[in-house]
Amino acid sequence: MADIYAAITEADPGLVEKIAEVLELRAADPRQQALRSGYLADLALPEGAHVLEIGCGTGPITRSIADLAPVARAVGLDPSPTLLEHARRLSPQPGIEFHQGDARALPFADRDFDAVVFHTTLCHIPDPEQALVEAWRVLRPGGRLAIFDADYSTTNVANGPADPLQACADACVAAIVHDPLIIHRLAALVRSAGFDIHHFRTHGYDGVLDPAYLLTIVDRGADALERDSRIGIDLARALRNEARRRAEAGTFFGHITYASLIGVRGC
Ligand SMILES: C[S@@+](CC[C@H](N)C(=O)[O-])C[C@H]1O[C@@H](n2cnc3c(N)ncnc32)[C@H](O)[C@@H]1O
Repeated sequence: MADIYAAITEADPGLVEKIAEVLELRAADPRQQALRSGYLADLALPEGAHVLEIGCGTGPITRSIADLAPVARAVGLDPSPTLLEHARRLSPQPGIEFHQGDARALPFADRDFDAVVFHTTLCHIPDPEQALVEAWRVLRPGGRLAIFDADYSTTNVANGPADPLQACADACVAAIVHDPLIIHRLAALVRSAGFDIHHFRTHGYDGVLDPAYLLTIVDRGADALERDSRIGIDLARALRNEARRRAEAGTFFGHITYASLIGVRGC
């Protein structure tokens, strides 16, 4: 299964609409909000900062960036016209703009930004090295790079050995992530692109009390297994129902480890 996000402009329109819903659902989760506030605070932005989010989707992170006090201009970039349409509709505040484009060939001048953010985007980009070369180019010397991404190898929804829901989580990761292990080599990647590393941290995210986002992982995995004819419609439905049964009974478990990195562009 290829990463749907990596070929987002060719994806089925119904699937892109589902992605738009999931991105907004995840961004509205208070624990996800706390995670992004935590690393965005470490950007140490100057007054009047210009900040670029690469791979903005429907724009929730660009909106959070635009709301930061020192930010004068928050720019979101994404290859998907459909996701950008949602982003523009959902982002009425001043100082925010959205552009269509690819991380590996940014449509911006050298040294245009004080900070560049990749929020759960780098793992979807084949050739992340080139995306980081481009991030370095558009940052001013001393400008900051923020990367927040998941260690998708830790995506776990199993309550025990051979739990059938885990097959859904595994299928979901295979269907939506180009490099599930990018976090493991992130520090080396970022240093090779010419950045110094200011911080690297890992963060746990669970779906025990509020499983809404992690239920979408089960759903999307069941969908992917069905789409690939690995299971039939009845089993896919049963797996989705089982996840909901556990959520209602208070026995659903889910966990993903994320990491955040702040880098600084040298001269
Ligand atoms: C998981 S979504 C994250 C969206 C947003 N950052 C958020 O967290 O809500 C990944 C995004 O990366 C975008 N993307 C995929 N390939 C890209 C590329 N080559 N350049 C820039 N963005 C890309 C996708 O269109 C998608 O919107």
